[in-house]
Amino acid sequence: MRLAVNIDHIATLRNARNEQQPDPVTAASAAELSGASGIVCHLREDRRHIRDRDLERLRESVTTKLDLEMAMTDEMQRIAVRTKPELVTLVPEKREELTTEGGFDIEGHYDRLREFIPPLRDSGIEVSIFIEPEKRAVELAASAGADIVELHTGPYSLKKSHADIEAELERLGKTAAFARDAGLRVVAGHGLNYYNIEPFRTIGGIEEISIGHAIIARAAIVGMERAVREMIRLVNTPA
Ligand code: PXP
Repeated sequence: MRLAVNIDHIATLRNARNEQQPDPVTAASAAELSGASGIVCHLREDRRHIRDRDLERLRESVTTKLDLEMAMTDEMQRIAVRTKPELVTLVPEKREELTTEGGFDIEGHYDRLREFIPPLRDSGIEVSIFIEPEKRAVELAASAGADIVELHTGPYSLKKSHADIEAELERLGKTAAFARDAGLRVVAGHGLNYYNIEPFRTIGGIEEISIGHAIIARAAIVGMERAVREMIRLVNTPA
């Protein structure tokens, strides 16, 4: 399983003082040099993490894969088509949320989604949709023209009892298999950390995980290089 690193919280820290440090672009380079398979950033409507200029600079410097998380808005579509990240991940976005709270409601936005995806793909950008691990969402993502689904692991990360954890892992594993059968590639993310990655990595067929908070939190103490390398080692330790 590959590891993509979300560097939004480096920008959050920088923005706390409205200064230039720490620089998300430098953090992205450190993550890449430490083995990250991609760099993820979420350009929010309120620009609370990375800003437009950060995205331009990331586009210039990222050599692995740039994954732009974004809401399904005309503004974001224009920015994506101009910037050309390798991948766009569509996420729901609410102003008042602390972080992305749930999967994308494909059913509620299906017609718009079907129109939204082609200009991105025509620009050579792959499209992933962040979904709840449910079959119906997979079916709709496939028929709307997505290349990839990112399974929401937030619910998994919140489970406490062994039985609940096992049940959620089973749900994720079944949904991943269903998505691959539907011709989609499967990635996962949200709430994964140095502890809950161990049971998670037993699920087959998930190409890549995307982790932000846990890695940036650890990087603040031990440095980006060590934080990324430790996670890559955990992700790839045989179950
Ligand atoms: N995947 C998606 C779609 C997200 O929105 C986020 C949070 O920005 C992540 C993965 C990473 O989540 P975390 O910061 O909890 O690792």
